[in-house]
Amino acid sequence: MIKTDIVIIGSGIAALSVAVTLCKNGRKAIILTKGLRNSSNSSLAQGGISVALSKNDNFNMHYNDTLEAGCYYNNPEAVMALVSNAPKVIKDFINSGMKFDTDEKGNLLFGKEGAHHINRIIHAGGDRTGQKVMEELFSQLNENITINEGEMVMELRVKNNECSGVITRDLDGNINRYEANYTILATGGIGQLYPCTSNDITITGDGLAMAYRAGLELSNLEFIQFHPTMLNINGKTKGLVSEAVRGDGGILVNQNGVKIMEGVHELKDLAPRDVVSRVVYNRCLRGDHIYLDISRIENFEERFPYVSEICKENGIDLSKKLIPIRPGAHFHMGGIKASPDGKTNINGLYAIGEAACTGVHGANRLASNSLLEGIVFGRFTAENIMKSKRIALHFDDEESYVKLDKLPDKAEIQKKMMEFIGIVRYRNKIPKIIKWFENFIPDKLEKPFGKINLTEITDEQMEIYNMLTSGYLIAKSAFNRDESLGAHYIISEE
Ligand code: SIN
Repeated sequence: MIKTDIVIIGSGIAALSVAVTLCKNGRKAIILTKGLRNSSNSSLAQGGISVALSKNDNFNMHYNDTLEAGCYYNNPEAVMALVSNAPKVIKDFINSGMKFDTDEKGNLLFGKEGAHHINRIIHAGGDRTGQKVMEELFSQLNENITINEGEMVMELRVKNNECSGVITRDLDGNINRYEANYTILATGGIGQLYPCTSNDITITGDGLAMAYRAGLELSNLEFIQFHPTMLNINGKTKGLVSEAVRGDGGILVNQNGVKIMEGVHELKDLAPRDVVSRVVYNRCLRGDHIYLDISRIENFEERFPYVSEICKENGIDLSKKLIPIRPGAHFHMGGIKASPDGKTNINGLYAIGEAACTGVHGANRLASNSLLEGIVFGRFTAENIMKSKRIALHFDDEESYVKLDKLPDKAEIQKKMMEFIGIVRYRNKIPKIIKWFENFIPDKLEKPFGKINLTEITDEQMEIYNMLTSGYLIAKSAFNRDESLGAHYIISEE
């Protein structure tokens, strides 16, 4: 048994925000990540961080935009906690060394993205905000933080509503048991459940699945945001084309140059993401090819170096000013029910970032609120932990002897999710995917997709089991909400 104070699962912005606050206050923590330290959606984030710092802005306006994009399904207290604390937390981050893009006088530059009524998005390295923010956060860690790469958390250690750490497998294949006073789930979302996604390859719904096995409360699972503009090369997704491109004047057009958002929504190309994604999706179904027309954007390559790089790598001639796009799974608004300071229904177990559902995003997240959520609520979680005193209960884990008999491959799950729980869902078809998932429930489990024997399963099989579990839970939630709301767009029959 490895005894430790704090275990953080995941290495994205929320994980690092907790870690930085803890380590600067002399607390030790171990970060466990199944991939490399940079294997996170945060490192890939482009657009930026939304924060009411410009002179024409205030946090009440940010609050209103967040609620409007979220279809007023948000938790208003969580939204207020986020937007009202954002200016101070971001100013502290800048004072601690973070460099966002500025004009020649040193004033922050504010970009625009969908559903914001004002330019509010600060960015770094043009469209390399995630990479720059993460580099800065990593540089602020000190010797109090240990990072174990290639160590996959397989299970949470929970008994009688108390969490005492995790069970992992490391790179050498050893099964390790950690006894921790505090365990923090910062595992990201579920993007890899879909064939087209902006998410890192490691994002396979692990946190959601293990939370379910451990008895954590889950919420809003049916709300999955599709980003309208993923670079699309011959039907394959090759990375994200930031919404900031539309904020700077990019326009969605079809192969005939028709502006597809004209007359659809008052914000046109900058309508909320769920609206834009559905328009693109429906156009593609009708055989259209959709492009981002970037001809109105001056100095495109300078402002969007990362998007330019991935376009060129994939043979797009930027002088033609048209980038082929289609929507892809981007962000999970649902997840583990948690408060803004990370508390869940299990003592000693916290959830933050995309893995958590504080209700801050409602039914559809406002652009660039997710890096913000990670940094603000990550800090709240660390502060909450520093105020409390908890000693993990010592107990032996209950072993499961149930073995996996059959598993599909990842591509099969992705295809089914896109078909049945995609941008448009048909209620009469959802039972089919639930039944399909049920084929893979191992016998003799107390509950569907419960705990299985860890010694007889590879990391890859565990990921597939987690994808099945998450997909099954999402499909059930999607079936239970029979009216459309935000990113959950449901039609009774096909
Ligand atoms: C983007 O750059 O378009 C993504 C920003 C976000 O998802 O908030």
